[in-house]
Amino acid sequence: MIGEAWEHLRRSIVYFRGNPVGTIAANDSAEEVLNYNQVFVRDFVPSALAFLMNGESDIVKNFLLKALRLQAWEKRIDNFTLGQGAMPASFKVLHDPVRRTDTMVADFGESAIGRVAPVDSGFWWIILLRAYTRSTGDHSLADMPDCQRGIKLILTLCLAEGFDTFPTLLCADGCCMVDRRMGIYGYPIEIQALFFMALRCAKTMLKQEAPGNKELLERIDKRLNALSYHMRNYFWLDHHQLNSIYRYKTEEYSHTAVNKFNVIPESIPDWVFDFMPMRGGYFIGNVSPARMDFRWFLLGNCVAILSSMATSEQAEAIMDLIEERWEDLVGEMPLKISYPAIEGHEWRIVTGFDPKNTRWSYHNGGSWPVLLWLLTAACVKTGRPQMARRAIEQAEQRLSLDGWPEYYDGKLGRYIGKQARKLQTWSIAGYLVAKMLLEDPTHLGMVSLDEDRNMKTLMTRSASWTV
Ligand code: GLC
Repeated sequence: MIGEAWEHLRRSIVYFRGNPVGTIAANDSAEEVLNYNQVFVRDFVPSALAFLMNGESDIVKNFLLKALRLQAWEKRIDNFTLGQGAMPASFKVLHDPVRRTDTMVADFGESAIGRVAPVDSGFWWIILLRAYTRSTGDHSLADMPDCQRGIKLILTLCLAEGFDTFPTLLCADGCCMVDRRMGIYGYPIEIQALFFMALRCAKTMLKQEAPGNKELLERIDKRLNALSYHMRNYFWLDHHQLNSIYRYKTEEYSHTAVNKFNVIPESIPDWVFDFMPMRGGYFIGNVSPARMDFRWFLLGNCVAILSSMATSEQAEAIMDLIEERWEDLVGEMPLKISYPAIEGHEWRIVTGFDPKNTRWSYHNGGSWPVLLWLLTAACVKTGRPQMARRAIEQAEQRLSLDGWPEYYDGKLGRYIGKQARKLQTWSIAGYLVAKMLLEDPTHLGMVSLDEDRNMKTLMTRSASWTV
């Protein structure tokens, strides 16, 4: 299966003027192509990790540099110009057989369904640049003035001051892996965890002595402190915390408020009470005024572990919960992108009647094999390789037989997704990365950061207001 996966992965490589620059999203000729013949930034990450772990770093370097060139383009949607730092969701190489040249087109959201700009692309780019540096020991790429500028442009976008009262990033629906309306607008966990990780990765690569960098590094530190405080306190949910929220008083005013965001306990959905084990916990999907999205999302929780946004106790608890709720979250095909699915009236309102995101399908509680590499990395980090092994074995029973689908449907992930592409590259690469991580846990360093002991972890409620 490993040999077969490598063959497919190599067949998905995209070349630009003779050099490999990425992998296409899916190699499925049976389904309508749409934009699956493009190189997606987020989809390339597991491909890149597989290549790095295999000692093939050229394609990753070329990709990082190409994405940087694209960042420099002027990005317009109708008459509006996007921030300079924005990175594309995807790009496409066009071959002109007559003139025998290649050109590139990138999508920053202006062609994407729903016209949403990807907030995650820039973060993944920074995270991948650090992975490349760690894996090859080659600091010259990250040190290049162009790369330093690229990092700064991305950070400028997300560290900009505005009307925000929270250190988290305010986002539109569909701005990350979940790239269509799914009710994740606000402060989605996926973006907050990637933001945190990207800030920490950037810190290791920005040159201290360059002009302006001292101030920038100070801003990064401040933001990391505030962000970790906010996430560890307000996004964290375990049995104890759920019980506190259940007993919240509302309409509290002033600095002594316990229920700061005025969450109405009646808005807690019934399923959470059953889902929450006595042992375990997780970062919930979203927190904003009077709104807590209690859904569980895998990507954000795993990235929280890898970046050490989660304290070590929280990391253990996240893994405990996955173990306790194995049937729901892993089922017959790892892994649920989110849990649970939304249905009925709520589905109509939240997704806008989206026929692709029906209950237990696609982004709405579907099962995505690509997520296997994130689970495995989190397992290795928390010293639970046997858990990853179990999930991988589960996937191995069907993944190749089914033709490496993009996602599976159903409560247990038993059915190949209704509109899932076959030969989906990140399903293939995610499997390879999971296998290689288990075999050689030293690869973990590429995608993991140790806990920063200087980060304040005051976990007392009502203490965030400083006069
Ligand atoms: C879907 C996914 C998105 C992915 C793209 C290409 O739109 O939601 O996360 O990048 O397919 O595979």
